[in-house]
Amino acid sequence: MTASPAAASATFWDKVAEKYAARPVADEEVYQRKLEITQEHFTPESMVLEFGCGTGSTAIAHAPFVKHILATDISGEMINIARGKAEAANIQNITFEQTRLDDLSQAAGSFDAVLGLNILHLLPNWEAAIAKSFDLLKPGGVFVTSTGCLGGSFSFFRLIIPIMQLVGKAPFIAYLSQDEVRDAMRRAGFSIEKDWAPGKGGSIFLVAKKPI
Ligand SMILES: C[S@@+](CC[C@H](N)C(=O)[O-])C[C@H]1O[C@@H](n2cnc3c(N)ncnc32)[C@H](O)[C@@H]1O
Repeated sequence: MTASPAAASATFWDKVAEKYAARPVADEEVYQRKLEITQEHFTPESMVLEFGCGTGSTAIAHAPFVKHILATDISGEMINIARGKAEAANIQNITFEQTRLDDLSQAAGSFDAVLGLNILHLLPNWEAAIAKSFDLLKPGGVFVTSTGCLGGSFSFFRLIIPIMQLVGKAPFIAYLSQDEVRDAMRRAGFSIEKDWAPGKGGSIFLVAKKPI
């Protein structure tokens, strides 16, 4: 029997979790700037959701600036590593949960900020993930995303990725262009407050606001 796409995705990310945890941040300066920009939208009362939190580094960095973070991931291995890191750092205000964004049952309007970092392009239903994030935010809340955009131009990766996927060495990837991501945010009802495409990799960092 073939595994469902969600189970296959969890298996892939479980397998790579240890290596992912050990990998250094690609560009420390850009990463730090993204943290700062995000933190400009936090208050000590902020209730935050991060989906696809991976090994928890970003949630742990943000934890001192907010009231609570619900940090979720489809991969149990990623969540185990994240829990261990938060415990080691004595962080008390993050709840880690192994779940898909689609399966979150929190009421609409539960969060002041939703973070989806390096994940939208990994979801077959990425546009539904934007809509769900909109729904989960309070009016005036922000959706902070960083999204790989391999669409719109020819790249070496588009040749190599299908081969890697065939042998289970790459996850599902949606070949998005930056404009597709921006347009989808606006269609969902967001206004784009910050639009930054750092570096040459084609990824786009957006802070999108749900109207009040
Ligand atoms: C490229 S990693 C990014 C991790 C982290 N956000 C970061 O920026 O380092 C993508 C993460 O998304 C998770 N993921 C993939 N599909 C998911 C889904 N449907 N729901 C929740 N998490 C998912 C993977 O397990 C993985 O940890």
